Amino acid sequence: MSSSQSFLESPPHSQASGRRRRSRFTHKQLHQLAQSTPHSPLRCIAHIDLDAFYAQCEGVRLGIPPETPLAVQQWQGLIAVNYPARAFGITRFLPLSEAYEKCPELVCQHVATWKEGEDSWAYREGAAKDIATSKVCLDPYRTESRKILACIKDALPPAPIQRVEKASIDEVFLDLSAQIHAILLERYPELNGPPPYDDPTENLPMPPTTALDWATDALVDLDGAETEDDDPDWDDIATLIGSEIVRDIRAAVYAKLKYTCSGGISKNKMLAKLGSGHKKPNAQTVIRNRAVQQFLSGFKFTKIRNLGGKLGDEVVTRFATDSISDLLTVSLDHLKKALGDETGSWLHSTIRGEDYSEVNPRTQIKSMLSAKSFRPAINTFEQASRWLRIFVADIFSRCVEEGVLENKRRPRTINIHHRQGQQTRSKQVPIPGGKQLSEELLFDSAKNLMAQVVVDGRAWPCSNLSLSVGGFEEGVSGNMGIGGFLVRGTQARSLLESERERSHGEGEDDHERPPAKRRKVDTGGIKGFLVTKEESSKGENGDQEHDGLFEAREPIHDDDNDYYEDMNNFDEDTATGETNLSPAGQRSPLSTPLPKHQQSLDSYFCTRCKSDIPLTEQAEHEDFHYAKDLAKQLQEEERDSTARTSAPKAKATPQASGGGKGKRGRPVGGGGPAGSGKTGTGTEKGQRRLAFGKG
Ligand code: CTP
Ligand code: CA
Ligand code: CA
Repeated sequence: MSSSQSFLESPPHSQASGRRRRSRFTHKQLHQLAQSTPHSPLRCIAHIDLDAFYAQCEGVRLGIPPETPLAVQQWQGLIAVNYPARAFGITRFLPLSEAYEKCPELVCQHVATWKEGEDSWAYREGAAKDIATSKVCLDPYRTESRKILACIKDALPPAPIQRVEKASIDEVFLDLSAQIHAILLERYPELNGPPPYDDPTENLPMPPTTALDWATDALVDLDGAETEDDDPDWDDIATLIGSEIVRDIRAAVYAKLKYTCSGGISKNKMLAKLGSGHKKPNAQTVIRNRAVQQFLSGFKFTKIRNLGGKLGDEVVTRFATDSISDLLTVSLDHLKKALGDETGSWLHSTIRGEDYSEVNPRTQIKSMLSAKSFRPAINTFEQASRWLRIFVADIFSRCVEEGVLENKRRPRTINIHHRQGQQTRSKQVPIPGGKQLSEELLFDSAKNLMAQVVVDGRAWPCSNLSLSVGGFEEGVSGNMGIGGFLVRGTQARSLLESERERSHGEGEDDHERPPAKRRKVDTGGIKGFLVTKEESSKGENGDQEHDGLFEAREPIHDDDNDYYEDMNNFDEDTATGETNLSPAGQRSPLSTPLPKHQQSLDSYFCTRCKSDIPLTEQAEHEDFHYAKDLAKQLQEEERDSTARTSAPKAKATPQASGGGKGKRGRPVGGGGPAGSGKTGTGTEKGQRRLAFGKG
């Protein structure tokens, strides 16, 4: 007789004492647990978030005892504050001077910086003074983040049982379902038996346990209708095992790397994430299924993923409350009427603790961005080039970590984002293939993009500039070699032209969001508001999503998590604590030129267009000619390379750049430029000559 039989025939006294004989859960649902099915009612998800992450990184790096108040400084502000310092009332974004007033013994470590004229990032004495010539570097934290991720993965069984999603530089989601399933079968052999009558919809036996030991967990109180006297069911056991796993992981991270983190354990990502932040530092919070409503009702709904931004604001306005409890009294119909069917339904189930989004084990970075806000704004191509040089160094070093030098991965496109007054413009070109990705190559492309911005006009004063690479693809192995990345010059040029046209259109309308910014959610889509991790991380325009960061003051919601991972920039804005309006933006919108009387009376004579140009516009005007010359040079190059591109033996294969895989042919082999990248064809020479000289 199997154990399950023994449960099936459990004696009547169990009924008399109020114990249910059968679990609420079925054999089928137990099976779903093994598959990590998002709809499994036994599902267990964890979220782990490092405590005061950057501050801990600095503490560990410098060997500072964990009880010392420590903050990470960026220019004159703080971007991370450890818990001992928080005890003094020191918070992120507090000006340095105020922080010292609150705690004179505070240790402040400035972030590492990239500095103009230097080849690599470093921790520098007096870095805070160099805001005009440096930008912050988060590489040290990325390195620690990678170590921690590896440690977490090591503490788990191998894939596919292991499902880990890196959600930001300091947090991960874990789908523990499959692992818990395996542990359940091991600990409770009665679960191994076939379902009664071989019917998977039959209920499981009750767990043979009446009291669970939640160890040091912060256990959220049960919902009103539930009592601790009720015997635990399998979902409680699953959560308990999940909690044990998280405790072990946290202990491993501390033992190996000396970092503390906090955890949340519950049935889905939303609740797990709220849980990890519930009790900090160095604690974990368990939200049992029977405690979800109780837990959620204490929150403002604006704390929930996707409700932190515009949608949340709209709901607050519509219903004159930000509390979940209040919103629970609003009927589904009413929500649908107010917000539309999809959004209304989504909100209705979300505030009831439902979230079926998957833990997505992607680990590959899809885009990288480096940016800087300028206060005061910059006004010349030369200044812009100097920053582009820094951005390129930053991005390139991250590309090297992604394995570009070993041809493991390579970005296909490079984008520039430029802000002048209220107007943000983005432009993109394919990264020329056929040769090793190098800083020079990226720098040349970056300057060409900048030149396009200048050609369009109204480039100065520029208040924010950023560079990103995206469209990462896996390297091609075997005899394809790096030729797999090749984009021929003519094709590159035609792509460039089409991109130009596209960005012209986009640039004119500041309000139009790039495609990836049109949000939707995978629970059925509440289009127009939500973006999923999955969506934001893939697709041709994945990196364009980050345009939004220019508006983000405090990107602390999930929506922004990718910034921490892939981005290196928002901190430039947040730390200075200034608004995103450039001086120019505050003075006058772009489309409105300065009134005549405010224009400088001084002018200079441009020998090329034989006219007087206001002195204030000299820099821009000269850039204009510079860029025009460049465009002319490009055209000549293209003519040149078209004439020479005969490649009779070439055969078309899907080519590797600019999106639309397989639409454009790419000549390979047969004496073409594939492979070494040094065969000196017109194509490559042309691409080389796209570049400016050293800037
Ligand atoms: N960060 C930042 N700017 C923000 C938000 C976060 O620079 N607007 C950085 C912080 O310095 C932080 C890291 O990103 O160390 C992770 O952020 P978060 O988890 O939100 O905060 P922690 O500092 O880790 O603090 P906590 O213990 O509350 O998680
Ligand atoms: Ca954290
Ligand atoms: Ca975090």
